Amino acid sequence: MANPIRVIGVGPGNPDYTAPLAVDLIRSSDVLVGGERLLAHYAGLGKECFPLHNNLREMIEFIEERRQDSVVAVLASGDPGFYGILGYLKKHFPEEELKVVPGLSSIQLACAKLCMSWHDAAFYSVHGRDMEGLADLVRANSKVVVLTDPNKTPGLIARELVAKGISNMKVYVCENLSYEDERIDEYEIETVPDNAGNSGCVLVITGSGK
Ligand SMILES: C[S@@+](CC[C@H](N)C(=O)[O-])C[C@H]1O[C@@H](n2cnc3c(N)ncnc32)[C@H](O)[C@@H]1O
Repeated sequence: MANPIRVIGVGPGNPDYTAPLAVDLIRSSDVLVGGERLLAHYAGLGKECFPLHNNLREMIEFIEERRQDSVVAVLASGDPGFYGILGYLKKHFPEEELKVVPGLSSIQLACAKLCMSWHDAAFYSVHGRDMEGLADLVRANSKVVVLTDPNKTPGLIARELVAKGISNMKVYVCENLSYEDERIDEYEIETVPDNAGNSGCVLVITGSGK
């Protein structure tokens, strides 16, 4: 019988935020699948690696083949279940064959850095998606946390929201979380600059303060 597939959340980037259980499971796997940035942390283990970029279909074929006689771990940034790889894997493998280990999400670290609770927040991602519905979500919630991507930057998102009549809100741009160049900036929604958080970040939009 084929081995279960380990789906391991490794946190927002810096390995210091990866749980010891996740590290143990990575070490005891034979094959690692994940983005280059995540695989780089485990290059020293000398495992066979499958670097993930826009090759999801090939990833499925690779896992299917390798899991017949090896233990495969798919490394996911943050938590695999929060706008992560888990949804895609579930389309191809039955739940019983996926062993999920949670990781610290970028949104958790962003809110912790802002000293902000997030049980009352709404969530949205423009990572590889459009912004349909975001303005309505911001109108309906006093705290909205958004994952961005290099094409939908904080400046672009803020301008779009202002053009739809949204005002009087603070925007926190949280980038490179957990890394040495981590940066968190606060703006009024009308003043978010074009170059803020351009490589992908966590954006917190709030009308009620922290
Ligand atoms: C595909 S989503 C994955 C989210 C992940 N599952 C999580 O729980 O954080 C990728 C997006 O997460 C955010 N992200 C991931 N790591 C980050 C970090 N270290 N700093 C800031 N944002 C990050 C960015 O918005 C990025 O475009």
